[in-house]
Amino acid sequence: MRVGILGSGLMGGKLGTIFARAGHDVVFSYARSERKLRRLAKEAQNGARHGTPAEAAREADAVLLAVHWSRIDDVLKQAGSLSGKVIVTCSLPMNANDTGLVVAHTSSGAEALARKVPRARVVAAFGTVPSEVLFGVFEARRKTHRPSLLYCGDDDAAKNLTAGLIRDVGFEPVDAGPLRIARYTEPFTLLIAQLAYEGDRGPELAYRFQWLGK
Ligand SMILES: NC(=O)c1ccc[n+]([C@@H]2O[C@H](COP(=O)([O-])OP(=O)(O)OC[C@H]3O[C@@H](n4cnc5c(N)ncnc54)[C@H](OP(=O)(O)O)[C@@H]3O)[C@@H](O)[C@H]2O)c1
Repeated sequence: MRVGILGSGLMGGKLGTIFARAGHDVVFSYARSERKLRRLAKEAQNGARHGTPAEAAREADAVLLAVHWSRIDDVLKQAGSLSGKVIVTCSLPMNANDTGLVVAHTSSGAEALARKVPRARVVAAFGTVPSEVLFGVFEARRKTHRPSLLYCGDDDAAKNLTAGLIRDVGFEPVDAGPLRIARYTEPFTLLIAQLAYEGDRGPELAYRFQWLGK
């Protein structure tokens, strides 16, 4: 599958690298230096490339949106038309100093994004775990007890595609329902961040849901 990375920082850089290692055709874009994008593509190997956001989005089966909330409009503008595209977003609607959500309760960042690109198919995924855990999850992907990863969206085909990417990274996808459930998953991430960054056990944290009934 061809995956365009819009935002090649902690999340986009690592997820793009993992997608490439899992066999996907990856194009890294949107960093402040082209040199960084070139290095990421070289290190990811497996034919990974770098380009502009428009190049990353063109012909992509899915784009990963991984920018700070304040950069969403800029990266979308640079990406051009995303009509019909699957947008997998891990971006959280955080304020400028990352202390709180600027969209919450009655909407979510994922829904606000879907309103900005009405003809795209938005799925919220990967935003509920810290970047620090991603390579560890990928390395442990053949183990039986995989960590869970929540995702939600309104388009079934886009969700199936995203569930495949989630499995490729090494998580067990947990379908949380329609996109409006991001109203719950986004604040949940603040809990995960609290445990990861304010706790004393480090940021390599994932979670696993267990249903004890039949
Ligand atoms: N980090 C996490 O653990 C984590 C976990 C869950 C969700 N999230 C969410 O995921 C999203 C991405 O987070 P992140 O930690 O990956 O952010 P990040 O490391 O800051 O990456 C953002 C990317 O955007 C690029 N960028 C910023 N300003 C730019 C500009 N003016 N022009 C071009 N490129 C620009 C950055 O460039 P440079 O590479 O040059 O800096 C970087 O590649 C955020 O919405 C965050 O809330 C993050």
